[in-house]
Amino acid sequence: MSSENVIDAGSINWDALRQAAVSAMQKAYAPYSKFPVGAAALTEDGRVVSGCNIENASYGVTLCAECSMISDLVMGGGGRLVAFDCVDSHMNTLMPCGRCRQLIYEHSVPGMLLNTVSGIRTIEQVLPDAFGPRDLEERS
Ligand code: THU
Repeated sequence: MSSENVIDAGSINWDALRQAAVSAMQKAYAPYSKFPVGAAALTEDGRVVSGCNIENASYGVTLCAECSMISDLVMGGGGRLVAFDCVDSHMNTLMPCGRCRQLIYEHSVPGMLLNTVSGIRTIEQVLPDAFGPRDLEERS
C-alpha cells in the first residue's frame, strides 16, 4: 500500500529544469574539486528554484548544489518540490548525495519525481523508509 501521489512525468518540463540546473552549475564555486554542480527543482506552485555547489578551504564545510537550491526555495517563500534535476559540467545527470536526499525529502510532495541515472524515480525510491517531519509528529 502506498500513500504516494502519482505525478505524471510527462507533465513536467524537464528541459526547462535542465536549463535552470545548467545555468546554476555555471555559477558554481568549486575551486578545490573543480567539479561544478547545478541543481534545479519545480515547486507545486510552478516556480523553479536552483542552486550550485559552494566549496570552502575547509573542505568539509562545502555546500552541495542541492543545499543552495533548498536555500533558494526557502528564501523565495518556501513551498514543496514536485520535480528535480541535477547536472555536472559534462551535462551528466547526477544523483544527490545521501545528505541532500534528506534535504530534498523534507521539502518534497509525496511522489516527487527526480531525474536520476536510472531514469525518473520518486523521492520514496531514492530515499526509502525515510525519516522525516511526520516521524517527529507521530513518534515524539
Ligand atoms: N556535489 C554536489 O553539489 N551535489 C551532490 O549531490 C554531490 C556532490 C558537489 C560537492 C563538491 O563541491 C563536489 O560536488 C565534489 O564532490
